[in-house]
Amino acid sequence: TRAASVDALYCMLTDRVDAALLDAAPRLRVVSNMAVGLDNIDLDECTERGIAVGHTPGVLTGATADLAMALLLAAARRVGEGIDYVRSGSWGEFRLDLLLGHEVHSSVLGIVGMGRIGASVARRAVGFGMSIVYSGPTRKPDIERELGAAHTSLERLLQTADHVVITAPLTPETHHLINRESLRLVKPTATLVNVARGPLVDTDALVEALERGRIAAAALDVTDPEPLPADHPLVALPNCVVIPHLGSATQATRAAMADLAARNLVQGLAGEQMEAAANPQVYL
Ligand code: DGY
Repeated sequence: TRAASVDALYCMLTDRVDAALLDAAPRLRVVSNMAVGLDNIDLDECTERGIAVGHTPGVLTGATADLAMALLLAAARRVGEGIDYVRSGSWGEFRLDLLLGHEVHSSVLGIVGMGRIGASVARRAVGFGMSIVYSGPTRKPDIERELGAAHTSLERLLQTADHVVITAPLTPETHHLINRESLRLVKPTATLVNVARGPLVDTDALVEALERGRIAAAALDVTDPEPLPADHPLVALPNCVVIPHLGSATQATRAAMADLAARNLVQGLAGEQMEAAANPQVYL
């Protein structure tokens, strides 16, 4: 009912902007999402109705890439289990076989979706002496030249990477991109990191792969469902690190996102092309 009178919407990734909402908001001309991901918005529907949509690419790239590395290191090197071990009072004498993990440095990193965030993760990984393979519909010659990254199919990536980071957008094509079959291809020593959107991974299949030790570990900033209930099997698994969608959660990044989303909104209302337009075709 409140939508009926609004000209512009400033929204977050938890707000669904779909045909039903648009039907209820006949005056709407501008949607500004304070997120880079657009899976909460029916973009085609907005474009068809001439509604300009903005989002926040660029400003959160570095923060999200930092967190992807933090998660990879935490899961592969069993930092969460180490913290639990100390907190539970289990720390006794030094043991040579205590919580042995898998190497991150000098290993092969597979990046699923070489967009801005994927490339930013890759730059960090090269600093760790890692080599990069990536999958996705578009080859990135600049990144290949800059980082020596090699494009490959998803199947080949999963077979050859020592660790896998998912940074692809959620679309109908990427829903459950990582499923029971694909998890069978992953190395048993690998960590799977997801900083994109939960539904890119089939959660039940991931639980099964982690329980059976088919993959070494997972580190998830995003989950399906989200929020993940505390009694969900993923939370109890020692080889799974779960944190509550914190990719862009630094003070500076969140402020930059809020500013960019506000500028998009004001520009959209003024009939100007937004600084970060998601459907620039509405201006044609
Ligand atoms: C995004 O922007 O899409 C993130 O998921 C939240 O910052």
